[in-house]
Amino acid sequence: MKRTTDILVIGSGVAGLTFAAKMATKRPDLKITIVTKNNIEESNTKYAQGGIATVWNLDKDNYEKHIEDTMDAGDELNNREIVEMVISEGPKRVRELIEWGTRFDKETNGDYELGREGGHSENRVLHYKDITGWEVERALIDRVKSFDNIEIFENYFALELITQHHLGKVIMKITPGIECYGAYVLNRNNFVTETILAKVTVLATGGAGQLYRVTTNPKVATGDGIAMVYRAKGRIANMEFVQFHPTALFDPKEESPNFLISEAVRGHGGILKHKDGEEFMHKYDKRGSLAPRDIVARAIDKEMKIKGTDNVYLDVRHIEKEDFIKHFPNIYEKCLSIGIDPMKDMIPVAPACHYFCGGVVVDKDGKSSIKNLYAGGEVTYSGLHGANRLASNSLLEGLVYAHNIHLDIDKVIDNISINNDVPEWDTTGTSEPEEMILITQSLKEIRDVMGSYVGIVRNNIRLQRAMNRILLYYRETEDLYKTSILSQQLCELRNLITIGYLVTKSSQLRHESRGLNFNTDYPDRLPYNELTLI
Ligand code: FAD
Ligand code: SIN
Repeated sequence: MKRTTDILVIGSGVAGLTFAAKMATKRPDLKITIVTKNNIEESNTKYAQGGIATVWNLDKDNYEKHIEDTMDAGDELNNREIVEMVISEGPKRVRELIEWGTRFDKETNGDYELGREGGHSENRVLHYKDITGWEVERALIDRVKSFDNIEIFENYFALELITQHHLGKVIMKITPGIECYGAYVLNRNNFVTETILAKVTVLATGGAGQLYRVTTNPKVATGDGIAMVYRAKGRIANMEFVQFHPTALFDPKEESPNFLISEAVRGHGGILKHKDGEEFMHKYDKRGSLAPRDIVARAIDKEMKIKGTDNVYLDVRHIEKEDFIKHFPNIYEKCLSIGIDPMKDMIPVAPACHYFCGGVVVDKDGKSSIKNLYAGGEVTYSGLHGANRLASNSLLEGLVYAHNIHLDIDKVIDNISINNDVPEWDTTGTSEPEEMILITQSLKEIRDVMGSYVGIVRNNIRLQRAMNRILLYYRETEDLYKTSILSQQLCELRNLITIGYLVTKSSQLRHESRGLNFNTDYPDRLPYNELTLI
C-alpha cells in the first residue's frame, strides 16, 4: 500500500510533535503525517522528570553562564557555535511551550520556580513537579491534534528510510547526493508494510537506552532512527558517549526500565552516601553530589566496586516532608510503593543507561547528510552536548531544533517533488520465524554484553570482547532477517545490534578518556577535539 504526504515525521516525542505543530501553523497548505511505533505519548519525553534548562532569571543568570556550564559538562567537545545558538534561542522556545498550555511550577509570588541540577552554576530548570515530560507531552499532543493538516498514525513502526538504494542503485558512504523519498513503515494494526512517500522526512525517533539491561528508557528507545540512517549510508557521530544517569532507583525486583530518581532531588539537597552514612562525592569533585553526570556516575561505579555493593544511597531525610512531597510527588509515591519511606529511609540508587549524546549528524537547521532528511532531538548528534550532556538540556535541544527545522523546510519544500518510482516493500521468500527465542535470547545477550564490557568504565580487552560477540549476533540476526516475515521485535533487535556495534566501534576509535568515554588504557584527554564520524 502506498501513501503520499508532504512531510513525514517519524516519532512523537518533544522533537517530532513540536516540529509538526510549528510546521502546521506556518504552512496550513501542507499535509503532515506523524507515524509513531506505539501510542502517541509513549516516548522518552513522557518520562522526563527534572525539567527544561534555560536562562530565565536575568537578575542572576545569563547566557554566558549556561553556555560555559554546557561546555564544561561536555568536556569541551561541544560545538561552541551550536551551544550558543541553542542556549540563546532557548527562552523563546520555552515561552512558546507555555503559550501552548504547558504548565510549570510557580513560586507564591507568581514567578516560575527554577530548579537546579548537576553541573549547573545557577537555578535555571523550569519544571512541572517531577513529571515535566508528561506535562510537555500532554500539551504538545493537545496542540498537534488541533490541526486539520496533521494526520497521526499510531502503532506504525518505521523500518527503513527510502533512498536510491530502493530504486536499484548501489549506494555507499561516499556516494554523493543520497536522497530520502520517505520510509517503509510496518502498520502493526494489520502487519502490512506501507510505503509512505514524502517530499521531506523528519526523523525524531529518540535514543537507544534499551541497548542496556539497566536503563531509565522505555521500551520504544531502541535506536531505530540512528540504525536506519546508518543503513542508508548517512553520517553518524560520537556514539561512544552513552550517558549513565547516576541515580536510578535500585530495586532488584523491577523489570527494565528502571525508575529514575531525578537529579533535581540532589539539586534540592539530596546527598549521595554509603549505607553507613559516609559521604563520598567530595573525594571526586568539589561540587559533590551536584557534579556533572559523567563524574558522579563514575564515582558511584568506583565506590560500589570498592565496597562490593550493588548500589549506594540518596539521603533526603533532612528535607522537610511537605517540601519534598510538593516537589517530588511521583518519586515519593514510587518509593513508598516499594516499601521505602524517603523521610525515614535512604533511597537505594545505582547508575543506569539514560541518554545517547551521539547520533545522526545534523547542521544547525537539522539537515542530515542525506538530502531531504532532517533530524531533531535525541536521535541526533548536533554538537550541543559534546562528550557528556548537561542535565535538562535535551528537551531544550528538541524544542530549538524543531523550530529551526520548520524554518528551513518552509524555504525548500516547494521545490521538492514526490518520487513515484519507489517500489513497494518486497516480502517474497520470507516466512514467520519459527522460534521467538532466537530473538529474545540474542536481545538478552547483547544487553548483558554492553553492560559488562561497554559500560561506564571501559578498556581495550573489554571492547574487543564486546565487538567479537556483536559481530556474531549481527551475522545470526541478518540470516534470520533475510528469511523471516518482519516483526517489530526482530527489527528492534537488528537495530540494537547496529547501535551496539556503533557504540563499541566508536569507543575503540577514541584513544582518550573524555566525558562519558572512560577507557583505562587511555586515561588521558587528548589536546585536540575530534568527532568520531562513522
Ligand atoms: P523521544 O521523546 O524519545 O521520542 C521518540 C519517538 O519516536 C517516540 O514517540 C517513539 O515511539 C518514536 N519511534 C522510535 N522509533 C520509531 C520507529 N521505528 N517508528 C516509529 N516511531 C518510532 N531531558 C531533559 O532535558 N530533562 C529532563 O528532565 C529529562 N528527564 C529524563 C528522564 C527520563 C526517565 C528519561 C528516559 C529521559 C529524560 N530526559 C530528560 C531526556 C529526554 O527526555 C529525551 O532526550 C527527550 O525527551 C528526547 O526527545 P525526542 O523527541 O528526541 O525523542
Ligand atoms: C533528571 O531529572 O534527573 C533527568 C534530567 C535529564 O536527563 O536531563
